[in-house]
Amino acid sequence: MFVQRCINRDCGGEFDLDERLYVCSRCGDLLEIERTEPLAQDAESLRALWLERLRSRDVLDRSGVWRFREFLPFDDDVAVVSLGEGNTPLYEAPRSADYAGLTSLKLKHQGNNPTGSFKDTGMTVAVTQALKLGTRLVACASTGNTAASLAAYAARARMLCAILVPEGQVSDAKLAQALDYGAKVLEIEGNFDVCMRVIKNLAEQNLLYLVNSINPFRIEGQKTVAFELAEQLEWEVPDHLVVPGGNLGNSSAFGKGFRELFGHRFISKQPRISVIQAEGAAPFARFYAGGGARFTAEEKPQTLATAIKIGAPVSWKKAWRAVHETGGGVITVSEQEIADAKATIGRDGIGCEPASATTVAGIRKLVEDGFIKKDESVVAVLTGHLLKDTDYVIKYHSEMLSKPESHERIRSTFANSIMRVADRPCAIESALRDLQ
Ligand code: F0G
Repeated sequence: MFVQRCINRDCGGEFDLDERLYVCSRCGDLLEIERTEPLAQDAESLRALWLERLRSRDVLDRSGVWRFREFLPFDDDVAVVSLGEGNTPLYEAPRSADYAGLTSLKLKHQGNNPTGSFKDTGMTVAVTQALKLGTRLVACASTGNTAASLAAYAARARMLCAILVPEGQVSDAKLAQALDYGAKVLEIEGNFDVCMRVIKNLAEQNLLYLVNSINPFRIEGQKTVAFELAEQLEWEVPDHLVVPGGNLGNSSAFGKGFRELFGHRFISKQPRISVIQAEGAAPFARFYAGGGARFTAEEKPQTLATAIKIGAPVSWKKAWRAVHETGGGVITVSEQEIADAKATIGRDGIGCEPASATTVAGIRKLVEDGFIKKDESVVAVLTGHLLKDTDYVIKYHSEMLSKPESHERIRSTFANSIMRVADRPCAIESALRDLQ
């Protein structure tokens, strides 16, 4: 019913689902999971079935990923490893809309997943596949969120789990999660790209099962967010979908999800998918600016948005297809722009981690440039929870945030500083009166 296929059509490599390959064994290009038989049901009956499942008490029916299982590469009797992922809110964000110059803006908050990031939607599928393959050791390289997510799902599946993280570059909250869930954390002297290279080589020697987004099963899980979003919008997709770009798995997954929905006539058009990168970690934006001619990695990526501090994204070819096919764009935003956009999202009562705020910062620029029109429908994907990086937040609001390397101060345009008040009732009373 499904196969793993090389994305390089000239190669034509096609492999069984249970071959542990990660990349094509013929040409080394990325693999993608593809359906080989037509869908058994039409769009209308599947839409009704998926809605119906929301009323069920069954764990699979209630998962925002497995609810769409007709599009997932498994038999019905597979043992699923789930934490009730997905089903995340789509918020109207008026202050952020105003800030970005739009009439309205919706935020799809993937930080409302069990471990606080979008990674869970892919991890439930990748760890289910790992269990099916009888894996002993699962592993990943991570800037923190993949680590936290894998650690949790591996714990549920009672598997050994190892995580490679760049030393001193992962937020405490993310590390704390991985430790509590029982993963073995290996801090590596080097950045994310070094961790990724090493772990990929070890996976190819069959020492472990790799669940970074190079693993096509991760993308299968993450693509269901497109399904959920389309359903939330009553199958009227937005004009623009904007996502942050790091290793580029997420943008690839949205591309695949909307492509499949369009191909099977669930939706009548695809949204334009735009990717936003931090100025100091922007190999994909440079590639886009160069017309997609030659992809070069960035040797020393730098950004305070540590989740996307990545110079050699593995999924750039798939992400390029998503952007190119839908007529999206790829731009960068500065540390200052990220910080201010993040504080603005917070004032909508929503909040997110720095990497997620690249979206609102990016939309503001795309509106200014006329790429997004004021009245178009726009959805930004928030990828991680506010509490993932509280150090950043406290520094911003106490005017202590500074750029990496140069240490140049970032302006706290929307600072909300803590008031120090003496422990006398009249002092507290007068502070509260001053507020009004
Ligand atoms: N936002 C957050 C909060 C992330 O954690 C990541 C990636 C991204 C955006 C970028 O997504 O890689 O699919 O383009 N974090 C990975 C990790 C690399 O290890 O947690 P992407």
